[in-house]
Amino acid sequence: MKALALALALALALALAACLSACAGVALPREQLTDPSALLFNGYTKPEVTCFKCHNGDAKGTMRGPSLEKKVATLSDSKLSDAIHKGAGFMPSFKDKLTDEEISAVIAWLHATFPKAPAP
Ligand code: HEC
Repeated sequence: MKALALALALALALALAACLSACAGVALPREQLTDPSALLFNGYTKPEVTCFKCHNGDAKGTMRGPSLEKKVATLSDSKLSDAIHKGAGFMPSFKDKLTDEEISAVIAWLHATFPKAPAP
């Protein structure tokens, strides 16, 4: 019985570990990216800035972080900037890892990536 419980616990731990890596987002190939903010978002510029791990390289989201498409369409730039500075929910703060200029550039890049749908 004890062995079974142990095996079960081990299987659970393995599944969890697998998810921690498998549920993570995937960076887009570097050669596809030209925008400095896209490179930053995809972890190619600063090793400690890995937005793609939670939001995926295309910013369309993973199990760990939402798609940013709706966020840029519905939140003001100051809300977006606030979230990146201070963190939001499970998202960590990036105020020590990004300059204000980098944060503004990432927001501009998100707007360019997801142009707002025209008003109905
Ligand atoms: C550890 C995972 C993780 C990382 C890394 C991460 N995010 Fe997030 N992000 C989240 C989650 C989860 C949310 C949703 C927060 C919520 O709804 O409260 C979020 C929300 C956001 C939002 C919307 C703000 C809001 O109020 O919902 C923006 C914009 C954003 N992230 C941008 C970024 C950028 C840019 C980076 C890299 C500099 C980044 N994220 C890195 C997990 C992450």
